[in-house]
Amino acid sequence: MQENRVLSGMRPTGRLHLGHYHGVLKNWLDLQNEYDSYFFVADWHAFTTHYADRIDLEANVMEMVVDWLAAGINPNTSTIFVQSKVPEHAELHLLLSMSTPLSWLERVPSYKDQQLKLKEKDLSTYGFLGYPLLQSADILIYKAGLVPVGEDQVAHVELTREVARRFNHIYGREADFEEKAETAIGKMGKKQAKLFCSLRKAYQEKGDGEALVKAQALLKEQQNITLGDHERLLGYIEGVGRIVLNEPESLLTKASKMPGLDGQKMSKSYGNTISLRDTSDEIDKKIKRMPTDPARVKLTDSGNPEKCPVWQLHKVYSDEQTQDWVVDGCTKAKMGCVECKQPVIDAIKDELMPMQERIEKYQSDPELIKQIIFEGSEKARSVAKETMAEVREVMGITY
Ligand code: TRP
Ligand code: SF4
Repeated sequence: MQENRVLSGMRPTGRLHLGHYHGVLKNWLDLQNEYDSYFFVADWHAFTTHYADRIDLEANVMEMVVDWLAAGINPNTSTIFVQSKVPEHAELHLLLSMSTPLSWLERVPSYKDQQLKLKEKDLSTYGFLGYPLLQSADILIYKAGLVPVGEDQVAHVELTREVARRFNHIYGREADFEEKAETAIGKMGKKQAKLFCSLRKAYQEKGDGEALVKAQALLKEQQNITLGDHERLLGYIEGVGRIVLNEPESLLTKASKMPGLDGQKMSKSYGNTISLRDTSDEIDKKIKRMPTDPARVKLTDSGNPEKCPVWQLHKVYSDEQTQDWVVDGCTKAKMGCVECKQPVIDAIKDELMPMQERIEKYQSDPELIKQIIFEGSEKARSVAKETMAEVREVMGITY
């Protein structure tokens, strides 16, 4: 398993806004320095809800990748790719669908929630029901250890774990599993083999969790055993079959605190966003139009920042000193709202202007973007192909 590998995806919604930047991208930026990171555009996922809408997917994919790059996702260290360019995701989705009980999909909370939310759409489709399983395939095919997601997606990672467990249980039980596992232990060298066996025993007989971790670490150090043997021995420690698909952990992204122009969470569907591409003028206009504490009709009326969406933005952008200045000026009616908004306007511009220079640079070079997507997708595909070779092997589809 690749504990060190992070994988996450985003639907191709096109141009991103500050909510995406503060809620998702900044988190990815931190992760990419620490992990072997895979970030992809989940373009097939768009069809699970928008199958009948004629959206310009190509433009959406390109613009989103431009925004990722401009935000600082580094194509030299992270693998940036597009789902449909790695058709192996579809093959794994198909094969997993054979053994996934319908009830598992029906009880994923997003299934009913989204149907209620998007009432104008007919979402009683096969693809919509199966979309969390497609997501499972997206994750499992890279053997990713960690999946950064928001709260709404945790159930999907949980499903992924169950799907992996079931797959390993069904297909990891080779007829001669024990024999193969014992032969593999023999390849570890006497001392290591002995240690491995005693750790395994400690785990299986006494439930010693520390022994489990030690045995897994010991396995990882082994240079002269094959990938297949590695998977067998991982399963052998726990007394299960060969572990072909590993169970990922979700890495819960703290709920985005990014408030929109009206104080609700920033979201396209609320029409309260600031796009990463908004011009200086648009930023001015949007912030100036923001509602404030309704109690402040006249300059001499004191206000309460807690009742004001602008204050929410100060919490994101302003240092302590500025925040003190806001509270003092607002509650004691020492300053007007126009004045109070200025530091927010300045901070957003400071954040976005350098990003917009990069957006412009990338946007004017579509060939470069295509090249980055091509190279990332090729790299992703080589990993996906390896996993599929193993999946086909254990399922007996190698003829
Ligand atoms: N379903 C996710 C969303 O709507 C996007 C996604 C697709 C994803 N495949 C994934 C996220 C795999 C993480 C891992 O936001
Ligand atoms: Fe909001 Fe600032 Fe006006 Fe107070 S002074 S109501 S915090 S904009």
